[in-house]
Amino acid sequence: MPPRPILIDTDPGQDDAVAILMACAAPEALDVLGLATVGGNVPIELTTANALRILELAGRTELPVHAGCPRPILRPLTTAPEIHGESGLAGTDLPAPRIAARPGHGVPWIIETLMTALEPVTVCTLGPLTNLALALVMEPRIAGRIAEIIAMGGSFSGGNVMPAAEFNIYVDPEAAAIVLGCGRPITLIPLDCTWQVRALPERLARIARIGTRSAEVVSQIMSYRADSEGGVGRPLHDACVIARLLRPDLFDGPQVPVQVETSSELTRGATLMDRRGRTGLPANCRVLLEVDADGFFELLGGLLARLP
Ligand code: RIB
Ligand code: CA
Repeated sequence: MPPRPILIDTDPGQDDAVAILMACAAPEALDVLGLATVGGNVPIELTTANALRILELAGRTELPVHAGCPRPILRPLTTAPEIHGESGLAGTDLPAPRIAARPGHGVPWIIETLMTALEPVTVCTLGPLTNLALALVMEPRIAGRIAEIIAMGGSFSGGNVMPAAEFNIYVDPEAAAIVLGCGRPITLIPLDCTWQVRALPERLARIARIGTRSAEVVSQIMSYRADSEGGVGRPLHDACVIARLLRPDLFDGPQVPVQVETSSELTRGATLMDRRGRTGLPANCRVLLEVDADGFFELLGGLLARLP
């Protein structure tokens, strides 16, 4: 099988960093066309610098990085320094990047990449959906050039940034509504799934023993404030997106209609899954609720061993 073409939209972000490293470690399976960055966990200047740092760490400096939207479509940017640190990669000791982002905004780069790719591309979103939403509005024809959207986002059992909402959807709910309505195959990986993928001490110990610099950085990420988010290890939310691509058998969940709340301030960004077909809406998402977490960490360890 030839490698699957993917593009990654991201707000690094500690768990984004793990996802990007995983994507870089499997060139026989994934043809990474490049990265677009978005304001999210930290402002765009930092998410872009962090994306460059991670590609240098992975030895993949040939991959283009284009800075995209610094803020949501309608709302001011919400960041998460309390989780990722002011730098966005708290706990790591990566030097400032030597490589630079490519000229040109991330949204037109997404459009150009999708319109010129030799085959439909899988779009992996690891942050707020602003870039992809605006690309779909600016050039609707890209929808036909998208094989699948695999998005980390949403929650059906309570939020993280707010009681009713998960961060990526909460930051730009209007963008999420545009993407959810685009008509292309969407695989949604919500907190219900990613909260199961936690850096438990024994998993952390195995990663720490791998011995590569990339594994060391992931160990630093997994160790940072390991007592946060419920005190049982950091969840590697975004890494589930790449794991789904490489080992789809590790995940499962229903094909259902999913909507997002955009008008209420109390429940802004809440994602609603219609499992009983009450709304009569199209089943626009495969929502992955189940994951083999041990299988995930086995995959992660094998990939980190392949990196510098
Ligand atoms: O809610 C978790 C998501 O928000 C992850 O993508 C994390 O990196 C933040 O962007
Ligand atoms: Ca992210």
